[in-house]
Amino acid sequence: MARIIAGVGSSHVPAIGAALDNGKTEEPYWKRVFSGFEKSQAWMRELKPDVAIIVYNDHASAFSVEMIPTFALGCAAEFPPADEGWGPRPVPVVEGYPALASHIAQSVILDEFDLTICNKMEVDHGMTVPMNLLFGKVGKNSHWPCPVIPLAVNVVMYPPPTGHRCYMLGRAIRRAVESYPDDLRVVIFGTGGLSHQISGPRAGLINSKWDKNFLDNLSKNPKKLAKIPHIDYMREAGAEGIEMVMWLIMRGALDAKVDEVYRFYTVPASKTAVGHIILENRKRGSSWAARSKPAAKRKRAAARATSAVRRSGKR
Ligand code: DHB
Ligand code: FE
Repeated sequence: MARIIAGVGSSHVPAIGAALDNGKTEEPYWKRVFSGFEKSQAWMRELKPDVAIIVYNDHASAFSVEMIPTFALGCAAEFPPADEGWGPRPVPVVEGYPALASHIAQSVILDEFDLTICNKMEVDHGMTVPMNLLFGKVGKNSHWPCPVIPLAVNVVMYPPPTGHRCYMLGRAIRRAVESYPDDLRVVIFGTGGLSHQISGPRAGLINSKWDKNFLDNLSKNPKKLAKIPHIDYMREAGAEGIEMVMWLIMRGALDAKVDEVYRFYTVPASKTAVGHIILENRKRGSSWAARSKPAAKRKRAAARATSAVRRSGKR
């Protein structure tokens, strides 16, 4: 059985990608941002997921304002990087996982979530920037460390999906993954945000209090977040703060109780508050916190757990 082992939330500010691509990561402004992801990259190297589901939004690269699906699942074998403001990023083509993606499409559609199936799709900074932040820099002719299933969400044209719809879709994705027969360890990303507004009289708006509260509730009380209406995001977190609903798909795909193993927040990068969180499902012995314990302690804990199971007659 495949299972979702962890969730990652990360902003996707395009200027972060440009800083990485143009060798600016050591400049103090950017070092402040990149240093917040060093531990995350170590965590990801250790986690070694078999596949990542990345919930992100397209910024008129693959879709346009003329036609935009609410939820679009990438079922292709590969997804080329798209043209953006800075030009196409020098990152590898993203390899997909068509077998699992088609399974998820079938499962969630039968579960009442009608997705658009994309058998050809380009991916922009909304996806490749969080990938770099978690996987590190990867040369254009090299390979990303694992295949990716992109899930593009419309948060650029009114009306975007509600936070509650996103949360429930996450739960359906979890059921889909768990009904896939192969043993795969899956990580799910929710990307975008946090608070920001790019244009208009409120351009530059950032609301750190709102962001911190969002991260706290994402960890401990996501159902409360799922009730927040669009208008509250727009008013409190800026017009583009609505991207944050995508984090609720990631959260819905995890257990009710999770371990928050890492959090990072810095202001600003370009016009945006950069937020990042790592949440792990609580499977015995599988959390990062447990893995980081010294080996002897870990062995003793495992022995205790095994004898407890024996005593309860389960083995
Ligand atoms: C910025 C942030 C975004 O999320 C985006 O898609 C484009 C630009 C910014 O802060 O500049
Ligand atoms: Fe964006």
